[in-house]
Amino acid sequence: MSQHDAAEVLARCDTLADISAAVDGIERSYLTPEHARANWTVGEWMADAGLTAWQDAAGNQRGTLAGPTADAPVLLLGSHLDTVPGAGRYDGVLGTLMAIAAVGRLRARGVALPFGIEVLGFADEEGTRFGRTLLGSCAVAGTWEDGWWGLQDAHGVTLHDAFIAFGLDPSRVGDASLVGRPIVGYLEAHIEQGPLLQDAERPLGVVRGIMGARRFELEMIGEAGHAGGMPYGRRRDALLGASEVVTAVELLARDARAVGTVGRLQAFPGAMNVIPGRVEFSLDLRAETDAVRDRVWNEIAEMGLKAAAARQLSFGVQQVHEARATQVGERLALAVEAGIRSTGDAEPMWLLSKAGHDAMAIADLCDYAMLFIRCKDGISHHRDEAVRADDVEIALDAFEAAILALASTA
Ligand code: GLV
Ligand code: MN
Ligand code: MN
Repeated sequence: MSQHDAAEVLARCDTLADISAAVDGIERSYLTPEHARANWTVGEWMADAGLTAWQDAAGNQRGTLAGPTADAPVLLLGSHLDTVPGAGRYDGVLGTLMAIAAVGRLRARGVALPFGIEVLGFADEEGTRFGRTLLGSCAVAGTWEDGWWGLQDAHGVTLHDAFIAFGLDPSRVGDASLVGRPIVGYLEAHIEQGPLLQDAERPLGVVRGIMGARRFELEMIGEAGHAGGMPYGRRRDALLGASEVVTAVELLARDARAVGTVGRLQAFPGAMNVIPGRVEFSLDLRAETDAVRDRVWNEIAEMGLKAAAARQLSFGVQQVHEARATQVGERLALAVEAGIRSTGDAEPMWLLSKAGHDAMAIADLCDYAMLFIRCKDGISHHRDEAVRADDVEIALDAFEAAILALASTA
């Protein structure tokens, strides 16, 4: 018999953590055997909560609770089931499992809702495998782009071929879309992935918006050469040029209250006694408004060209992801605030999400709101990600109360 409580949700997070491609860490990326196993497992839990479970045409795991009438609108709840490499056990997973638990609780109490519910376990939020993030939620929002089919993973497998290997039909991806359906909105619970709630000694917060993001694959090309024989004046060291960009990213982003991260950098040919002739590196750039984000990118790009020119290098840029900054829907966010209030916090804290979420993509389909849950020391995208069981318990209460608040104003 399911308890639909924090202990059960946390035990399920542990179960999913074991469905991983890495033996010594958590890694579950899009269209992999681990993705299939996680969907199957979550589908069982959905069914157990009274949802009709199925996998959609983009590989998202979904569960439906019928509304009072065939044409009743649907409230979407969920988060993602994929992970970054070396992940923690709560990013995305906690919100998906909380959504299932909330449905289980409402059903156990026999609550009659004026809308149907659909729980979504999105298949690709992180973009770990194909570089482009939010693939699962874009399919649901009807914003899937045909240009993505040629994206390749680290082994050269295209997104198109990975679909087929997973048992999905690329020509049917549009079937995952909810465009045209009457929708109440989308609610997502997620760990904060930052330290603000902990610093404020609060377990929960209401999200007011999500930073806009852009991601780039960058390249500096110079010339490899002998690490001893080649004089400094004649070198075209690509790593020195890339390093100037890496440090400029921090300076320019900090100045503008944006955030920029170079999370991956590789020098070629990659030998101790060879001057790096080519460097590939990534850039993840985020800001509260798209205007600030784009201004900082223009400054970084200009600086990269200057650094390249000074060292006779060429600077290559390929944008692989862009997501606009979004604001929450007022009615939904007030319902989340009311949910938190019902747990005894008279003045819930509102905060900006610097992390990206499926809600950013779903914003193209309908209004969204998010409930943030305190995580230990703000650590996320790391194996030490941790939440408190008592926080998850009140988060479940708040999430359920938010759904009831929406039901009472429907
Ligand atoms: C998703 O986790 C992100 O990179 O913000
Ligand atoms: Mn993440
Ligand atoms: Mn996440």
